[in-house]
Amino acid sequence: MSGYDEAYRRSIGRPDEFWSEAAQGISWDVAPATVTAGGRWFPDGRLNTCFNAVDRHVAAGRGDQAALIHDSPVTGAARTYTYAELLDQVARTAGLLRDLGVTAGDTVVIYMPMVPEAVVAMLACARLGAVHSVVFGGFAARELAVRIDHARPKVVLSASCGIEPSRVVAYKPLLDAALEQAEHRPARCVVLQRPQAVAELDEGRDLDWARAVRDAEPAGCVSVAATDPLYILYTSGTTGLPKGVVRDNGGHAVALHWSMSHVYGAAPGEVYWAASDVGWVVGHSYIVYGPLLAGCTSVLYEGKPVGTPDPGAFWRVVSTYGVRTLFTAPTAIRAIKKEDPSGIFAKKWDLSGLRYLFLAGERLDPDTYHWASDLLGIPVIDHWWQTETGWPIAANCVGIEPLPLKPGSPTKPVPGWDVRILGPDGEECPPGVDGAVTVKLPLPPGALPTLYRDEARFTRSYLERYPGHYLTGDGGHVDADGYLYVMGRIDDVINVAGHRLSTGAMEEVIAAHPDVAECAVIGVADELKGQLPVGFVVLKAGAERDPAEIERELTALVRERIGPVAAFRRAVVVGRLPKTRSGKILRATMRDIADGNPYTTPSTIEDPAALPEIEEAVKRT
Ligand code: COA
Ligand code: AMP
Repeated sequence: MSGYDEAYRRSIGRPDEFWSEAAQGISWDVAPATVTAGGRWFPDGRLNTCFNAVDRHVAAGRGDQAALIHDSPVTGAARTYTYAELLDQVARTAGLLRDLGVTAGDTVVIYMPMVPEAVVAMLACARLGAVHSVVFGGFAARELAVRIDHARPKVVLSASCGIEPSRVVAYKPLLDAALEQAEHRPARCVVLQRPQAVAELDEGRDLDWARAVRDAEPAGCVSVAATDPLYILYTSGTTGLPKGVVRDNGGHAVALHWSMSHVYGAAPGEVYWAASDVGWVVGHSYIVYGPLLAGCTSVLYEGKPVGTPDPGAFWRVVSTYGVRTLFTAPTAIRAIKKEDPSGIFAKKWDLSGLRYLFLAGERLDPDTYHWASDLLGIPVIDHWWQTETGWPIAANCVGIEPLPLKPGSPTKPVPGWDVRILGPDGEECPPGVDGAVTVKLPLPPGALPTLYRDEARFTRSYLERYPGHYLTGDGGHVDADGYLYVMGRIDDVINVAGHRLSTGAMEEVIAAHPDVAECAVIGVADELKGQLPVGFVVLKAGAERDPAEIERELTALVRERIGPVAAFRRAVVVGRLPKTRSGKILRATMRDIADGNPYTTPSTIEDPAALPEIEEAVKRT
């Protein structure tokens, strides 16, 4: 039996044995006697995640090893922090938070760009047993306000600005606007001043980060229960209210530490680079916690794959720092391919140290797979996961046994994930037949135990549809060799440039426009970004408006309410939306039309003439 098959079989058949062995990779304050009970992992274990990610490496003599490399082509800065330096910064920042009254179990919102202080802030919270909630910088003030009201932070950590290639994004006015809109009042905001846009601080509320951290006494690690929350990360659901995915301390540390060597094949001391953002789950798991738990050097890159300054940006970083494992989204590779189709920029750099390119965040299309494989001559590995799971559900686990790759497939389920493809009646689909991709319970360590302050939504969203199974929200199938194919979401979540967005949230914003009677937003295939949102709007009777003007107003509205990251630019005025007789909008049929797929007119349709109208509208976009 092969290494993969054996590991997988054991993880499903004897999970206690499997995960108790994996737990030995973590330093516990109280080693867990129980591996799993009631769906929770290591319930009687105690640990501190920050200790495991930082202190223990210093204690083991690795203090002088690089822990974090900040490379920022948008500011021209680059700096390396050793584990000892990282420890000093984290302990002081934790000291500051402690002085502000933050204790174990309190929440802290972090709204920051890709600066080292963002990583330090997350670890400082973990050090105190406080629960961080990082909000991605590309969201608008309203989205930040919604998260502040739900997470109720004692303190908000932020920065004066983020830097996009085209502009400096002043964060402070966004933070101020969010706090004005929010009902919850944090006691304090700590603001990192960046020279590109220095913010005006509010005397009574705001503290200057550098000064406050300098004056703080270092704080030690607070021991927490393995089941205590480490963080909340809000992600798009099908409505305007995001889901607060909760991550625990113990299961998360065990799973991520295990994944670094077994999924990614990364060893302590190696340079590992996830070219993502700390605001997304990829950033949480594989910029911050995974590489640091494993004693790797992690790269924090403040730039883009193209335009900062050219499509060789990724290859420069790989070559300069000796990156062994690169992880990014297929859209980033497509962006590079578009500007440098024959790979001239890649040839300028020595990429001989690069061993694997891992891709996730959206489906890896075979064209992009072949282009990257040919260019780099190394395994290009698609792997599939989501905010909820925290680490890969399906991958080619090169640290266990590299399997032959099949373009279009993220290979096979990772040990711990009992993937089942279910049909509408809950029966398992035979090979080759598409169904809902589910995971038979229990979920392995590291997966979400619940949604923050919303256990009912957790059950409703993930567990009710197929009792005994976790619903991933993706559709797909397994082939005769057991390879998984993930074909796309079966709900109203879309994926724009690797960013997960809710069409429902966009519809809520559009419906608030005074001239809009009703609307539907769907994701339409896009060559670069994978999908782009397109709005179909029906105007109120008597609203004689220029469609181009409506499109401009709706674009501005979505940008203002959700943020630039939504990349909403197309809105088409139509006479009516296709609906069932019970009034449900036929979004799936609209998606097929927009993507140019063959479709059948559903028998439940209220007015079949609505479909050709959508076809016409699509031609106009
Ligand atoms: N703060 C403020 N604004 C942000 C932002 C941030 N952190 N991140 C993105 N934005 C803005 C951008 O400036 C852009 O604004 P614009 O409409 O004014 O141009 C908008 O949000 C869309 O940004 P983005 O999705 O980055 O598109 P892009 O056209 O600027 O770049 C790619 C396209 C493909 C290069 C880029 O999307 C990319 O690098 N994607 C990889 C994504 C990724 O790593 N995802 C994580 C999963 S692994
Ligand atoms: P997020 O929670 O932002 O990580 O987004 C998760 C969603 O992105 C998944 O549910 C999928 O729809 C999609 N996704 C992520 N990785 C892949 C992949 N390798 N193949 C196909 N879809 C993916």
